[in-house]
Amino acid sequence: KFEGLAETPPMGWNSWNKFACDVNENLIKETADAMVSTGMKDDGYTYIVIDDCWHGERDSLGFIHANKERFPSGMKALVDYVHSKGLKFGIYSDAGWQTCGGKPGSRGREYQDAQTYASWGVDYLKYDWCNTEDLSAKGAYLTMRDALFEAGRPIVFSMCEWGTYNPWEWGEPIAHLWRTTGDIYSCFDCEYDHGDWSSWGVLQILDMQEGLRKYAGPGHWNDPDMMEVGNGMSTNEDQAHFSMWAMLAAPLIAGNDLRNMSDETKSILTNRDVIAVNQDPLGIQGFKYQMKDSVSVWFKPLKDNQWAVCFLNRSREEKKAEFDWEHEKVIDEINHLSPGFSKNEYSLINLWNKKDKTSTKNKLKANLKGHSVLMYRLEKKR
Ligand code: GLA
Repeated sequence: KFEGLAETPPMGWNSWNKFACDVNENLIKETADAMVSTGMKDDGYTYIVIDDCWHGERDSLGFIHANKERFPSGMKALVDYVHSKGLKFGIYSDAGWQTCGGKPGSRGREYQDAQTYASWGVDYLKYDWCNTEDLSAKGAYLTMRDALFEAGRPIVFSMCEWGTYNPWEWGEPIAHLWRTTGDIYSCFDCEYDHGDWSSWGVLQILDMQEGLRKYAGPGHWNDPDMMEVGNGMSTNEDQAHFSMWAMLAAPLIAGNDLRNMSDETKSILTNRDVIAVNQDPLGIQGFKYQMKDSVSVWFKPLKDNQWAVCFLNRSREEKKAEFDWEHEKVIDEINHLSPGFSKNEYSLINLWNKKDKTSTKNKLKANLKGHSVLMYRLEKKR
């Protein structure tokens, strides 16, 4: 694969969660405009990714084209437009013969499609796993990796096989990120049974990340799916979702309508302090330290001996968070790091409420509303 890409978790927007198959060139252009005008671009959001259903037909030579009614100017012109805004462009295909939405897949056409994407100037490929029958997942993703490499344009490669064949175990040399779960949907604590598949709420997806953190790092990330911030959950829930994706060093791919955001949604997606936790150069995925009466406590090591901590109230009811720092032995066992609270004092910087200023000398006591978080950056005092 191309090295030096996605050294921090990719940030951007994807059409699927909000628009599903209802995509067209104006939507993509207006979204690119909105990414600039809302300030999201300045906060680090870079990729505009068009998901399923952009496709038209293959021509007589097998080359894929965009749907002519929805993309009358063609894909190359659209990519150029996104690039002219200083953003990068992502596209979607599938390892099988058809995409999940029934459009032409790349099976048997991998090299040709990779060349087409490179000629359009594509910077990111999300590669799905529907209609793959007898394919080996590792083999199919290796083929597309090699095809992209051969095409010669640096393209971030996002594997979307939903964690079915443990992609974290073999994904690092192949892709820059891999989906670890089935599809998310806009609900905090739910499962939606579609019959032969399910989609999942934020807490369900979160629980599926157990044990995966050792596989993530710069250039190779666990992907707990795109965000649902701004798609109907409460403000507390959106904040908690965004905070936890930051703690997980997850790709921050917005999935809402950037052209029509409430102020709350915008302030969540553009919280630079939380984004900085996600984009920390160490690239260490956070871990769950403790779970007490529905409140879980998560830690993430950051550069310069700093840490992030997040208290997550999983219940609908208000809960108490109590934490006596000096008596807690927090250790990141994979990276052999510890804040050493018994020896070191840290200032606590509340990432959602700037007024709250305290330190690890004081026992933490707080009330957490249902489905909400309390998130701090810990800065060591000398
Ligand atoms: C799968 C993926 C989704 C989305 C759809 C498109 O369900 O997991 O993220 O790309 O396909 O059809």
